[in-house]
Amino acid sequence: MKFFLDTANLDEIRKAASLGLVDGVTTNPSLIAKEGAKFYQRIVEICEIVKGPVSAEVTSLEADGMCRQGRDLAKLHSCVVVKTPTTKEGLKATRCLVADGIKVNMTLCFSPAQALLVAKAGATYVSPFLGRLDDVSHVGMDLLRDIITIYHQYGFKTQVLAASLRHPLHVVEAAKLGADVATMPFKVFEQLFNHPLTDRGQDQFLKDWEKVKDQVL
Ligand code: E4P
Repeated sequence: MKFFLDTANLDEIRKAASLGLVDGVTTNPSLIAKEGAKFYQRIVEICEIVKGPVSAEVTSLEADGMCRQGRDLAKLHSCVVVKTPTTKEGLKATRCLVADGIKVNMTLCFSPAQALLVAKAGATYVSPFLGRLDDVSHVGMDLLRDIITIYHQYGFKTQVLAASLRHPLHVVEAAKLGADVATMPFKVFEQLFNHPLTDRGQDQFLKDWEKVKDQVL
């Protein structure tokens, strides 16, 4: 399973990347606005840190505009993956970008039917938003399971990118279902490391080491 960081914050990306456990980054206009950063510049800055796929979202409403914007984004850096919305226009744009050899991540996917269209359009990634479904009392994991079942059935090459993850169990459940990628906020990434028994065990080992360290040889 690949780990992507779901943030446009450079400090967070640097910290996580320094551990060597981050394979890429996903952004969206809201995440970049939160940082008060210049959109294109921030995408390049992120690409220079992670050296893996970095999703950058188009904002036009029509396929032609999305395509133009997508081509511009793809020129920014070889790591850029163009993010398009899972709408009719987004699907048209995806087909045109894919024909140009540009990698596409289709975002805002909320149903298996949409995911089927995403795969047929040839996108590199489909991003089902699990947390946002949970927020409205639908089980996000059910969507992930359905997409993975359908994709396996037909051998679709589109990678399933579990998005809108809110806590470590989302990551674990997505891994159990076989999601290709999990994109998570920095906070969730950090939570993956924590276990109170690890801390307690380590404390005890170090206390006991103090008792024997003078008798090592
Ligand atoms: C990732 O590509 C998405 O933009 C992101 O996971 C959305 O997460 P949210 O629902 O927490 O905003």
